[in-house]
Amino acid sequence: MLSDTTPFLAWRQAQQDAVERALDRWVPADAPAGLGEAMRYAVLDGGKRLRPLLVLATCEAVGGHAPAALRAACAVELIHAYSLVHDDMPCMDNDVLRRGKPTVHVQFGQAQALLAGDALQALAFELLVPGDGSVTDAMSARLCRLLALAAGADGMAGGQAVDLASVGVALDRDALEAMHRRKTGALLQASVTMGAATGAPAPAVLSALAHYGACVGLAFQVVDDILDVTADSATLGKTAGKDAAADKPTFVSLMGLAQAQAYADRVLAQAHDALRGTGLGHTDTLHALADWVGRRVS
Ligand code: IPE
Ligand code: IPE
Ligand code: MG
Ligand code: MG
Ligand code: MG
Repeated sequence: MLSDTTPFLAWRQAQQDAVERALDRWVPADAPAGLGEAMRYAVLDGGKRLRPLLVLATCEAVGGHAPAALRAACAVELIHAYSLVHDDMPCMDNDVLRRGKPTVHVQFGQAQALLAGDALQALAFELLVPGDGSVTDAMSARLCRLLALAAGADGMAGGQAVDLASVGVALDRDALEAMHRRKTGALLQASVTMGAATGAPAPAVLSALAHYGACVGLAFQVVDDILDVTADSATLGKTAGKDAAADKPTFVSLMGLAQAQAYADRVLAQAHDALRGTGLGHTDTLHALADWVGRRVS
């Protein structure tokens, strides 16, 4: 497994550190009335940073523009962090633990959590339009469009709406897959296509990378469903067992643990195939990230 190798682990740590430093610089402490504190609490010092890692690895694979990639990496992580803040609120999943800490609404109140999410979403797009010449206007526009499409009604927000509308509903495989592709897959796929958009890959390469991203994104949420059943809260940093307790349809409720893992593995095999189909030279890290998605323990 490439994900067990020293070069990958060293790369991952170095990039996670770089993303942490950039987020620390870009997420303001001085937003008024405690909003900055809530924003920084939601974003800093937590999470696997998978989405930023996908952006940065794809940028490397296509020989893209590194300063734009670091901004895109942080932007997608800000959208993700905002989605978690809102996902945890009492009106959605009503969770009290996230990344090993009390959730933002528990710590700061519901109104501040709502606003922190709003402000993180706006900041994500601000980062993509630096206005200092470090990212061309054309590249900024492409990155904004990809992120907006993935975060909005046809992506994460739409998928979250389906998720909430599906409590107690036994979705079939196609419907469940469609929900997972939207609520989680879209942002992971956008991480890959934004990384690609920092360079200029040929259309066929771009579409193979997009397919890789879609497969990694779908498999990621299937594994999230599995870990909700198999892992404990301390390891996850969030309360385990919530899906069954809330009567959410998941790949585990649909097909059981073993079949769900086999399904994730099949989807990840497609991700590896798509990557090989790009013909790109520097894809070891992207292969390793797909391995990690399938074998992660938190
Ligand atoms: C959790 O995402 C929410 C889902 C989309 C399944 P992650 O498992 O990537 O959460 P962090 O960022 O590592 O905390
Ligand atoms: C979350 O799915 C997807 C998001 C868009 C945040 P879940 O509700 O399963 O994520 P966790 O398990 O709370 O992290
Ligand atoms: Mg949810
Ligand atoms: Mg949740
Ligand atoms: Mg979950």
